[in-house]
Amino acid sequence: MNLKDLYINFFVSKGHKQIPSAPVVPENDPSVLFNTAGMQPLIPYLMGEEHPYGKRLCDYQKCIRLTDLDRIGDSTHHTFFEMLGNWSLGDYFKNESIAYSFEFLTEVLHIPVDKLAITVFEGDEEIPRDEVSASRWESLGIPKSRIAYLGRDDNFWIPGDSGPCGGDTEIFYWRDDSTPPVNFDPHDERWVEIWNNVFMEFYKDKDGKVTELAQKNVDTGMGLERVVAVLEGVYDNYLTSIWEKPRKLLEQITGLPYQGNEESMRIILDHIRTSVMIAADPAGIKPSNTDQGYILRRLIRRAIRHARKLGLDKDSNWEEQLAKCFIEIYEPYYKEVEENKEVVLNVLKQEKEKFNRTLEKGLKVFEKISLNTNEIDGETAFHLYDTFGFPIELTIEVAKERNLTVDEVGFQKKFQEHQEKSRTASAGKFKGGLSGNSLVETKYHTATHLLNAALKKVIGPQVHQMGSNITEERLRFDFPCDHKLTEEEKQKVEDLVNQWIQKEIPVTKETMEKEKAIQSGAECMFIEKYPDMVTVYKIGDVSKELCGGPHVENTKELGHFKIKKEEASSAGVRRIKAILE
Ligand code: ALA
Repeated sequence: MNLKDLYINFFVSKGHKQIPSAPVVPENDPSVLFNTAGMQPLIPYLMGEEHPYGKRLCDYQKCIRLTDLDRIGDSTHHTFFEMLGNWSLGDYFKNESIAYSFEFLTEVLHIPVDKLAITVFEGDEEIPRDEVSASRWESLGIPKSRIAYLGRDDNFWIPGDSGPCGGDTEIFYWRDDSTPPVNFDPHDERWVEIWNNVFMEFYKDKDGKVTELAQKNVDTGMGLERVVAVLEGVYDNYLTSIWEKPRKLLEQITGLPYQGNEESMRIILDHIRTSVMIAADPAGIKPSNTDQGYILRRLIRRAIRHARKLGLDKDSNWEEQLAKCFIEIYEPYYKEVEENKEVVLNVLKQEKEKFNRTLEKGLKVFEKISLNTNEIDGETAFHLYDTFGFPIELTIEVAKERNLTVDEVGFQKKFQEHQEKSRTASAGKFKGGLSGNSLVETKYHTATHLLNAALKKVIGPQVHQMGSNITEERLRFDFPCDHKLTEEEKQKVEDLVNQWIQKEIPVTKETMEKEKAIQSGAECMFIEKYPDMVTVYKIGDVSKELCGGPHVENTKELGHFKIKKEEASSAGVRRIKAILE
């Protein structure tokens, strides 16, 4: 039996209900492109909402993390991975959670206790030292010398900048043939973290304010690919049973051994697997130049380039063969992979054919440039993007291989000039319509950000923009909320917005990488978006959103804010219409 099944069976036997993996594209959370942890779809329930499956849950969740995109090609990083998790939503806490983990590791996986070590939270001025966890581990047979106390950087977990959070205890495994040392040194890399049990008792809001949650939760996470590598005793994740079939298939298709071609092969394997999982998602993502679609495009195009590097003929159906292999592996676990098989194969084929048409010509540009200079200027990088379909990251990678640098700032400038041009063009097309961006509409735009921030404070952090519409007369804003707002709530929201207006807060704008913006806690709305480089508008500490603008320079320009109407928009969604007077 494989680890996924063993894990689920174990927790089901302990009274947990298995929940299906949520889609990899979050359904109700536009602040992240992809689910990055098992707990992400469970945030409302960790905050106190009742889960239809009860208080004890377990699953394997599809996750995508893009922070390490540049590192794909090494032996341990992946863009897609599966996270095994079990949760207590206000049910059991530290003692039971630790006992379950210990029993699973030692009795189901038969890991000798001597190969385990533990870290716990050492405490600080806000949260006490976690003696409860430490003594629980000791009572189960982990010696004191194998328990280390570490601080916030290591033993405190929060999804990004804000959300449910708490101290954690992490389990380490001795990955070496030598006898494990008596004293645990968490900085010795032969100790590999295999499981994280987070004790979620707090909520940190976007302003950094920490409050206690209504219930004490447990959130655990175990990265499948890493743990399988550890248990199978290999140092290269791609040499585990998880990757065996597709790796061998790629060797067969290319006629090359994995050894000596690791980098390109890992990139191809990783990126095709992730592309399969994105394209199979119910969200129906297709390659494009924005958001998830742009990530999908980048992954497929990078894989294609590496396939070319390994000498694969552009007309061979290598991507189809690999995709079919991944589909076979994952369809028993994820019904959407089975259901959307054809969609996945089409997405890959079409994107390959599209990029094939320009890839060679684009690569020739690099050859020409390298004869005369060692930098690709902004204009050329933009030309590569616009005409030959080279995502900027791919240009940077290809340039690096040829010892060329890329003027990324110059590229961004060209890119934005282009955006401005097309925006002006489309504003012209719809003159008098929505994209006019008069001063009044600009004011409503900024007021919308303030309203969003005020609703979050009054109704709760789950509030976000589900729809917005601005005219010269009013703003309209849709957000998730399960009840009609009371008079008191409406008054509070109005008062907050007006207070912020009176505070004369400057509105500032910064351009940064999308990933960085999201990680810094910027909220993402469905307005104008750029591939990878985005504009973040900040209104003091009140609001921080990814947005194409435009906005006023200072909240004092807005006048007086008034809610005119509050009504249902659809089930669980409320709509506010408000004016500035
Ligand atoms: N949410 C925790 C993690 O991702 C378990 O590590």
